[in-house]
This record gives sequence, structure tokens and C-alpha cells, in this order.
Amino acid sequence: FSVKSVASSSSPSAVAAEQASQGLSRIGLLSQVSGVLGCQWGDEGKGKLVDILAKHFDIVARCQGGANAGHTIYNAEGKKFSLHLVPSGILNEETVCVIGNGVVVHLPGLFEEIDGLEYNGVSCKGRILVSDRAHLLFDFHQVVDGLREAELANSFIGTTKRGIGPCYSSKVIRNGIRICDLRHMDTFPQKLNFLLSDAALRFQGFKYSPDMLKEEVEKYKRFAERLEPFIADTVHVVNESIAQKKKILVEGGQATMLDVDFGTYPFVTSSSPSAGGICTGLGIAPRILGDLVGVVKAYTTRVGSGPFPTEILGKDGGLLRFAGQEFGTTTGRPRRCGWLDVVALKYCCQINGFSSLNLTKLDVLSDLPEIQLGVLYKHTNGTPVKSFPGDLRVLEQLKVEYEVLPGWQCDISKVRNYSDLPKAAREYVERIEELVGIPIHYIGVGPGRDALIYK
Ligand code: GTP
Repeated sequence: FSVKSVASSSSPSAVAAEQASQGLSRIGLLSQVSGVLGCQWGDEGKGKLVDILAKHFDIVARCQGGANAGHTIYNAEGKKFSLHLVPSGILNEETVCVIGNGVVVHLPGLFEEIDGLEYNGVSCKGRILVSDRAHLLFDFHQVVDGLREAELANSFIGTTKRGIGPCYSSKVIRNGIRICDLRHMDTFPQKLNFLLSDAALRFQGFKYSPDMLKEEVEKYKRFAERLEPFIADTVHVVNESIAQKKKILVEGGQATMLDVDFGTYPFVTSSSPSAGGICTGLGIAPRILGDLVGVVKAYTTRVGSGPFPTEILGKDGGLLRFAGQEFGTTTGRPRRCGWLDVVALKYCCQINGFSSLNLTKLDVLSDLPEIQLGVLYKHTNGTPVKSFPGDLRVLEQLKVEYEVLPGWQCDISKVRNYSDLPKAAREYVERIEELVGIPIHYIGVGPGRDALIYK
């Protein structure tokens, strides 16, 4: 990247003070129940915004997904934390973190995360509440995830193999086991036996023996004891807190384009990372929901298979991948990279009704001489595609029309005031706002907590 730097015009302390006051008034205006949701195919950098907003909220809650989310955040000393199940509010001492009923919980993973946080001086006791209604994700769900992907051969989904899909399947066909079932160890073995036998019947490669059940039951007896202080009726806790005028921030995992209903099915996750998932995954009434901030990367990335209309193939995609360090937090897999897809973004905004957007990783585009925006989809016969297609065949065959904007070709990572951004960077931001019709209130120019411009 070019070393030419755009310095802020004011002194560093004046900039910090101005940034803090702009930021505080922005954040202070967010509603009592607000949410941060991903607009693309995940990995937009939601964790950083949640971490910044968290100290202005009493509760940070996860409503869907599981350990397939991978949020990377840094504490005030710049220490890196990778979170998968624990909400990103955990680094703010005053914040209570809720894992809602819509989340699927892998207890070995959750305890590993808690141990890691506590080892690094982050206290978790009394600060993490796990819904008694949430479903347990067992190791066998992960094995089944791998077996399903292997069965699909060339048509594999590209899941994280964390067992999320199989666990939601158990939930939906109504033989899942919930956190509250850990309180009934008399019936727990029978329920688990049913689940494991079912998997053994379905998958030849799944080896199941009575010893395996015995071992698993013993393990879960110990887990049940350790989890007890964390278990809560979070529907009650969240709604009581709302009644007491406490502020709740909902942290979405994955993103709308991976939504099981609205995403590029079947190349999606098994939950609802869109606005609706907040209501079903936490028990919050729709009319109580306030501001939703959509997090969108200044370009697009996608992990795994599935259509990606604005994908940049070959060497240029690789350049963006290295500039943006686009490798999965959970799996380390390289992400596919492409231009910002405004058609998909508008569709996502329509579904979620965002009040504002957070444009992240603008700094990653800094070296490019020109930047493209995918603004229109066209059928192969040249006619415009009217809405974001549900039919994958249409999506795979369509052509994208691009607008080309000039790049700024200088380092913007130290900029903290919007007016100090180069003109071309501001034009890029404003063109996106114009096309989408939603204001961009936050602009990410680096991974750190302070690398944020309030617009
Ligand atoms: P998922 O829920 O798994 O989709 O994760 P996420 O949306 O929270 O994304 P993740 O934490 O994986 O963020 C992606 C990466 O981008 C992390 O390493 C962040 O530190 C980094 N990041 C976030 N914002 C910015 C930014 O503005 N600029 C740069 N350069 N990096 C950023």
C-alpha cells in the first residue's frame, strides 16, 4: 500500500475530542432496543461496531446462529479477542451478555471461550446469561455436518462444519435437546440416545455405541453443573430490562444474504440473521425494535459456495483478499472477494429497514486506481432484473452493470474526521448513500476501536 498519508488537519487531541463528541451524540441517539446486522455474506466487521456501542448499552444479546460467527475485537490495550458464541459486549465490564433462545450452543466451545476470556482478565461470571430455551449443539452435530457435506460432493454448501445446520434440523423436527433439559438428568440420556440413534440410522459413516452415549452423558452431567449459574429465562430478563428502561443491543451473526429465507438458498446458514431473527431469537416484540444499523464492507466477500454476482476472479480478487486480510476467523478459509453489490445491498436494506449503515474497511480500497460499484443486474437478453432474484439460476446467469469511480490512492487509516477524507473517498461513500437511500453514519478505516469516522 502507498505510504502517502492523509493527515487530519487538526491537532491529534482536538481530533480525538471532536471524534468522541460526534460519536457520543450519534450513539446516544440510538433507540432503547437497537441492533447491528450484517448486510452481505458475513464477516463485515460487525464485532467492532458492537464492541464500540456496547458501553452505551446495558445488555448485548445474540439472537441466532452459533459458533459459526467469528467476531474479532480488540480491547483498549490492543489485545485481540476472537469470539464465537460470547457476545462482543463482553469486553465492557458493565455489559451483561445474553445468549438468546435462537442461538445453538456448543457447551465445550462456550466453556473454552469463557476460560480464554477469564485467563485474559475478562470476568464472565454473572455477565453471561444463556437462555434455558436455547438448543444444545453436540459434537455429533459437527460430525453429521461433515458427513452431509461429503455426501453432497461437488454441490457442497461450504458450511463451517460447526454443526449449526444439523442442530437447527434437530430443533425444527422437534427432537432437539435444550439447555433446560440439562436440569433433568433422568430423561437426558434417553433423549440423547434418540438423537444419536437417529444419526446412526441416517449416516453409514456415523459410528454409535452404548459406550459413546455413556461417555457423553457423564460429560454433560459435569457441564450441567458448571452451566447452572449462567442459565436464565432470558425472554423474561430481556423484557423486564426493557420495562426498566435498560438499553439492549442485539448483535447479529452472519448476514442477510445468508438468511435461510432471504439469502442465496441453499448456500445459506440455517437461521435468520435478518431483523425477524431478533424477535424470534430473543422474544422481543416487533414494535419494540428501534434502530437497526446495517454493517456493510466497502467491497464484498463471501466464504463457501454459492452465487456471487460481483466476484472478482483471478489475481485482482487475490489482491483485495490480501489487502483486506480476508481469511475466515473461524476456519481460516480464504474468502472470495468482489466489488460492492448495490443491488444486493438495497434488497438487504428493504428487508431490514435499517436506520443507518456502517461502511467498514474503506481503508482496504486505498491502493486502487479505480473502484467499481455493481449497480444493476441484467438478464442475458439485456433486460434489467427488477428485484434481487430468488432463483439461483437467474442469479448465476445475470450480468452486472458497474459504475466506475476514481480511487484515492493514499492511506486513510489515520483519518478521524469525515471532512479529512480525500474527495474521491467521500464521493464513494456519498454515491453509496445516494444509491441505497440510507445514511452511512459510521465509516471503518482500520481494525482498531478508534479507527472509526462518525459521519
Ligand atoms: P461474522 O459474524 O462471522 O460475520 O463476523 P464479523 O462481521 O464480526 O466480522 P469479523 O469480526 O470477522 O471482522 C472482519 C475483520 O475485519 C476483523 O479482523 C476486524 O478486525 C476487521 N475490521 C473491522 N473493521 C475494519 C475496518 O474498518 N478496516 C480494517 N482494515 N479492518 C477492519
